[in-house]
Amino acid sequence: MTDDRSRVAFITGGARGIGRTFADALVADGHRVVLADASVPDAEIAAAELGADRALAAYCDVADEDSVRAAVDATVDRFGGIDILINNAGRHLMSWSRPVTDVTTEAWRDILDVNVLGIVNCARACRPHLRAAGDGAILSVSSVSGFTSTDVYGVTKLAVRGLTVALAKAFADDGIRVNCLAPGPMDTAAALADLPDELLTEFIENKQLIRRQGRTADLVGAMRFFCSPESSFVTGETLIVGGGFPLRV
Ligand SMILES: NC(=O)c1ccc[n+]([C@@H]2O[C@H](COP(=O)([O-])OP(=O)(O)OC[C@H]3O[C@@H](n4cnc5c(N)ncnc54)[C@H](O)[C@@H]3O)[C@@H](O)[C@H]2O)c1
Repeated sequence: MTDDRSRVAFITGGARGIGRTFADALVADGHRVVLADASVPDAEIAAAELGADRALAAYCDVADEDSVRAAVDATVDRFGGIDILINNAGRHLMSWSRPVTDVTTEAWRDILDVNVLGIVNCARACRPHLRAAGDGAILSVSSVSGFTSTDVYGVTKLAVRGLTVALAKAFADDGIRVNCLAPGPMDTAAALADLPDELLTEFIENKQLIRRQGRTADLVGAMRFFCSPESSFVTGETLIVGGGFPLRV
């Protein structure tokens, strides 16, 4: 980052996977992080590893407004404010890679509550603190599936791109920038355990230019850019970090 200010980042789903990689990088850069996660044991382990002076574990189910508000209040009590919101928590396993009429209405509501409304809940609760920061930043995690959007998961990730534009417009006068990352398949434990090998190979061979699976570390440079003053003239954008997906010329 271009200045030395230590910032506070509220990271949903920060206990594991991509969110944890972001937490590690931000702490290494001298910032403080809140691991706002539905899994308290995982968040507490991560916070202990990162150090109590730098990391706070907070129970947060992004689909539940009350728990989001409580996690935001705990953050402000502990660290004095919030400079960065990273909307990373999401449902993403293969069970959601299904045609849109093949899941029940109840299941649709469940994934929409987490992947879409969860971002609205967090943005709403963090807004006054991001405004007070003066140069607040929101970064949401979509997916390359948000560009093809042929299944339930992809539709929710397309909505994350739409929310990025809508929130960028709604929060512009508060000095809050809102951007989005769209990763290709990454090496998180959850994704590795769930994604069939043949699907992953097909994706890498036929949809990417860089023929390997993405690593969560591949996302860190873009995350740092969008969360820092380096990108102070950028808002409402989605950046694909997907090894050249979808073979654009
Ligand atoms: N892993 C990939 O290949 C990949 C690719 C593209 C996009 N993404 C997106 O990146 C994000 C993170 O993926 P990941 O693979 O790191 O996930 P993960 O499953 O490894 O970790 C997700 C974390 O979020 C927490 N969580 C789950 N539901 C929650 C909720 N309702 N509220 C708060 N916390 C919750 C979990 O406890 C966990 O700690 C997701 O939004 C996913 O859609 C992942």
